[in-house]
Amino acid sequence: MPTDPTDQEIETLLRMGLRNRWHPLCPSHFVTDRPVSLYRLGLKLVLWRDASGTVCVQDDHCPHRGAPLSLGRHLGDRLACAYHGVEVSTTGKVLSVPGSPGCRLEGQMAVRTYPARELKGAIFAYVGDSLHPEPCAFEPPEQLASDEYEAFLCYAEWRTAYRYLIDNNLDPMHGSFLHRQSHSMAVGDVRANFQVRDTASGFRFEKVTQRDVNFDWSEWCDTGALYARLEIPYPRSGGPGGNFGIIFMSTPISDTLCANFFWRNRRVQGWERDTWRFLYRNRLEARHWQVLEQDRAMLEAVEPDANQNECFYDHDVGVARVRRWMRERAIEQLRALNAAGARKPWERRAAAGVST
Ligand code: FES
Ligand SMILES: [Fe+2]
Repeated sequence: MPTDPTDQEIETLLRMGLRNRWHPLCPSHFVTDRPVSLYRLGLKLVLWRDASGTVCVQDDHCPHRGAPLSLGRHLGDRLACAYHGVEVSTTGKVLSVPGSPGCRLEGQMAVRTYPARELKGAIFAYVGDSLHPEPCAFEPPEQLASDEYEAFLCYAEWRTAYRYLIDNNLDPMHGSFLHRQSHSMAVGDVRANFQVRDTASGFRFEKVTQRDVNFDWSEWCDTGALYARLEIPYPRSGGPGGNFGIIFMSTPISDTLCANFFWRNRRVQGWERDTWRFLYRNRLEARHWQVLEQDRAMLEAVEPDANQNECFYDHDVGVARVRRWMRERAIEQLRALNAAGARKPWERRAAAGVST
């Protein structure tokens, strides 16, 4: 049996988002005491918190007849479907079928439930394919995990494909053009030679002709979640601390809408941390949103199929490389599914009663 996926299958998986990774879904504050329904990664999900405040991420689909669980009643440790009252636990188990006690559905692990965690103001879920239901390890970047950094999350949903956002973050040179009037990217050469360097978790695309002047490098990382990391030096008016860093992740909502997470971070401690917080909230945050607005306006104006008709030059090697990297991961995942005769992420199981 052939195991190589077709181009169409590869494209479908990439549009939905790679599997077997942790993905950020939304800011933590989206989910309070009421269930919330979100489309992400080709899935319709319900996010809710149990009585202890722990986040639960599940398919927003009642195993009885498919009503959205997000419309259900929150009973502390379970959701009760609003349509006929079926009760589902935080693990996806059907605890009660009030209309037919003792029926076959009771006790079944019938609602797919995704391992979830919160980190630096965002809710993450592990989305595996049918061969990898157990979560992989996720080692967050030190900028989010270490106390040595202070990080602020900026969240924005943009009307474009998430892959254009990834391209944009692996394209440092746009800083010198699109953002040339910004407070931190006005200086430096608009020409540069680049190199690609492999790293332990991905690769770095960097200028060889300029360092610590502008947006001079970007790194693609896979540590159980996929993200881009970059730094931009700050002028003195930017306050104390090292370079201004960004950890960027993007999660598809649909083919033309994506959820973007930008953690702006800086290595600061003690009084410098207080100064950075103050400066950020009072002065820098508004400027950063202006810069992001330039990206948003550009990327939302790019046609969905613009990437079918491009002429790359040497500044685009980072874009070419990250696209190839994504495609290779998609092929690996699909090959494994084909070899095992397992269903693809877009193929759903018709009947309830199975948890994955
Ligand atoms: S559809 Fe949910 S209880 Fe019937
Ligand atoms: Fe930008």
